Amino acid sequence: MLTLERGAEAVVSAAEFLGREAVVKARCPKTYRDPQLDLTLRLARTRKEARLLREARRAGVRTPYVYDIDLREASITMERVRGPRLRDVLSPGLDSLERLCEAVGEALADLHSAGISHGDLTTSNMILADDGLCLIDFSLGSMPASDEDKGVDLHLLRRAFMSAHSDVSGLFDALIGGYKRNNPDAQTALAKAEDIQRRGRYT
Ligand SMILES: Nc1ncnc2c1ncn2[C@@H]1O[C@H](COP(=O)(O)OP(=O)(O)OP(=O)(O)O)[C@@H](O)[C@H]1O
Ligand SMILES: [Mg+2]
Repeated sequence: MLTLERGAEAVVSAAEFLGREAVVKARCPKTYRDPQLDLTLRLARTRKEARLLREARRAGVRTPYVYDIDLREASITMERVRGPRLRDVLSPGLDSLERLCEAVGEALADLHSAGISHGDLTTSNMILADDGLCLIDFSLGSMPASDEDKGVDLHLLRRAFMSAHSDVSGLFDALIGGYKRNNPDAQTALAKAEDIQRRGRYT
């Protein structure tokens, strides 16, 4: 299998599932952990990620289809979403840039309105697919998500715009516009995000 990515926790490889292009995301054993605890953690994160990918889709947010879960290997086989990561293309020259930033805000609002938080919301975990923005990597998410969880999502996204994407930081307002449009309870989460920033957490 062709390895696409090897992160701290997971290996993502190209695969095929019933003739469809797929990836397998496998959580590798950590030898420094007690083997039983390690297995429990890997399984819990795998289950949670698969569940949140599905729930997010039900909430109208584009995520990869989950094809299969292997609880022996702690792996998920899912649709391979073609397209660049937002992190690699978000720049002033990009077509429909403002609309795209609004779309990020709308997707996050749909997620939050359904009681789901992402937990690791950076532009590395967004793929710009042909059919729109696709969110991946839900292993740190929560459902039901607290106001604090939602605030953390907004805070992480804001931080990404102010650092990795400082050349388009002005468009964070467009993102928040999209967020407010799709989340009736936007003010609560936005106030939490302010709070988190003031407390200097997650910086
Ligand atoms: N369904 C997918 N389709 C296409 N590429 C994917 C898909 N899932 C993951 N990738 C690629 O693999 C990379 C790593 O995947 P992902 O973000 O899910 O894992 P991670 O950050 O290593 O894991 P974790 O944070 O859960 O430990 C992504 O940035 C993306 O480039
Ligand atoms: Mg990731």
